[in-house]
Amino acid sequence: MSKVKAYTTELIKDAAEIIKKGGLVAFPTETVYGIGASAFNPEAIARIFEVKQRPRFDPLIVHIADYKNVKNLVQRVDKRVEILIKKFWPGPLTLVLKKSDTVPDIVTAGLNTVAIRMPANPIALELIRESEVPIAAPSANIFGRLSPTTAQHVFAQIGKKIDLIIDGGRTRIGVESTVLDLTDEPTILRPGGLPLEEIEKVLGKVKISPFNKRPRSPGQLLKHYAPRIPLKIIKQDNGLYIPEGLRVGFLAFKSIQRNLPFAAVEILSPTGDLKEASANFFSSLHRLEDADIDIIYAEPVPEQGLGRAIMDRLRKAEGLKNE
Ligand code: TXA
Ligand code: MG
Repeated sequence: MSKVKAYTTELIKDAAEIIKKGGLVAFPTETVYGIGASAFNPEAIARIFEVKQRPRFDPLIVHIADYKNVKNLVQRVDKRVEILIKKFWPGPLTLVLKKSDTVPDIVTAGLNTVAIRMPANPIALELIRESEVPIAAPSANIFGRLSPTTAQHVFAQIGKKIDLIIDGGRTRIGVESTVLDLTDEPTILRPGGLPLEEIEKVLGKVKISPFNKRPRSPGQLLKHYAPRIPLKIIKQDNGLYIPEGLRVGFLAFKSIQRNLPFAAVEILSPTGDLKEASANFFSSLHRLEDADIDIIYAEPVPEQGLGRAIMDRLRKAEGLKNE
């Protein structure tokens, strides 16, 4: 695992050199690990798409470390944007805005909008500053697979194909940022680390774009964030049973109430805290994916606050249409 290196200030200098030369560096953010390249280097960005096996129509988020950089990347910063940035950056909120010509088309998959965020992780911020460019970075997983919340998760999926993985420990929030489209009426394209309720306190009513409609954000595609084994959302009630011969792994919210012979069990938060549940979510799924089981049964969590992000990921993993 020589490509995984623990964070030091020296390492950030090396990492920034790699970015400046068009290389790819995986780094921690407060949400999940990202795989980053200079947002101004189309060839480096092309390599990100290759490494992730990601379709070219799925645009990337541009990460910045300085508020001043927004103006350069977008056409206009209106009052709503100013207020949101002031309140929630650095943090797990990605804003989709009309892009300026400085952003290469490959970053935005040809769209006339760009997604931007300032991550709340000192390692990420130091890397962006030291690199002296905005860093375009999707989550550091293979397209459609589980997102990484540790450096080891990154190594397991794409380690061989990238230049460096900065190990900054496990990520604090554990689910990806909330993607908010502000090109028109505020619309959540992907529920994530910043709860809807927090955004509504500032903006008033915010729309949520249902993911089974024609995707506005390719992250709304079904079959995203999926483990390699099938997943089914299922309640812990009397209807729950283990079919003959099936090895079932159970992803529980607070506790196991039904004493069934599960082949593996993960508990997201013994106290029922949605923050803790989000932080553990992908790690638990990674462990279940590596357990010798045929299927994951996942218990639904309350659909409020960060619970929305968890349920969104579970439904996408299940691949069923919602509504
Ligand atoms: O927390 C996060 O957001 C992580 C960390 C690394 O920052 N990044 C992340 O990137 O989750 P990615 O590429 O896995 O997801 C970005 C999402 C995708 O659903 C993408 O379709 C959407 O943002 N997106 C990016 N640019 C967009 C745009 N211009 N318009 C609409 N959706 C956009
Ligand atoms: Mg992703």
